Amino acid sequence: MIDFKKYKKIIFFTGAGMSAESGVPTYRGQGGVWAKYNFREYACQDAFDINPEKVLSFHEIRRKALFKCHPHRGHKIIADLQKQNNEISIVTQNIDGMHQKAGSINNIFELHGSIWRLRCSIHRIYEDFKKQYKTYKCEKCGNYLRPDIIWFGDSLDHNVTEKSIELISDCDLFISIGTSGVVWPAAGFPEIAKNNNAFCVEINPEPSAISELYDKIIRKPASIGLKEIFS
Ligand code: APR
Repeated sequence: MIDFKKYKKIIFFTGAGMSAESGVPTYRGQGGVWAKYNFREYACQDAFDINPEKVLSFHEIRRKALFKCHPHRGHKIIADLQKQNNEISIVTQNIDGMHQKAGSINNIFELHGSIWRLRCSIHRIYEDFKKQYKTYKCEKCGNYLRPDIIWFGDSLDHNVTEKSIELISDCDLFISIGTSGVVWPAAGFPEIAKNNNAFCVEINPEPSAISELYDKIIRKPASIGLKEIFS
């Protein structure tokens, strides 16, 4: 048993498995998004340049599906802990906004962007939380808006990455939830915590590519694992 009360600077590092119990499909494994859709056709800049409407409609299908999904008890446990301690941060690979829906407003870093934002390459970022995109095109220049997501081949946002690394380097407890640990550079983040002497926990029903790195492993779904350690 771990005495979690002795830790102050806590990072929750979440991946698609964090949202699985909310009904959001993961990317890999059974029923994964990339088993159904070829990311080269739907989730990279080249695909968007060739056929923006096809890429946008794929993201619109995902938005519609997400609209019906709600945060689970695990998301709420994290949001409640953040209310008690402002040194708790979430670094997430998820683009679904589920942590925010659960009430996590501050100290949340979306490494891979958000499906609820669109951006024009010239003008600005548009937030759009509706089921359907309000528009596919920038109201100023008429260019197609691109989902504000890190696609395959994109670089991460420098500011988000720097801030995440700064916090991870300084945390004393690092809890990784529901990530396969195969997508870089995010897959390298647990090692940063480990190298800085944080106690590292993995919550995942399956082994990940980096499981051997963790001090404690909880082979359970996110909501059960979180309840077990924080109740
Ligand atoms: N609770 C916890 N973990 C779970 C659960 C659950 N209920 N269900 C599944 N998992 C685990 C799986 O065992 C797997 O290890 O979640 C992980 C999901 O892995 P991926 O689908 O690869 O998701 P992720 O690691 O977040 O992917 C990283 O890849 O395609 C890109 O940009 C996309 O952000 C994504 C990135």
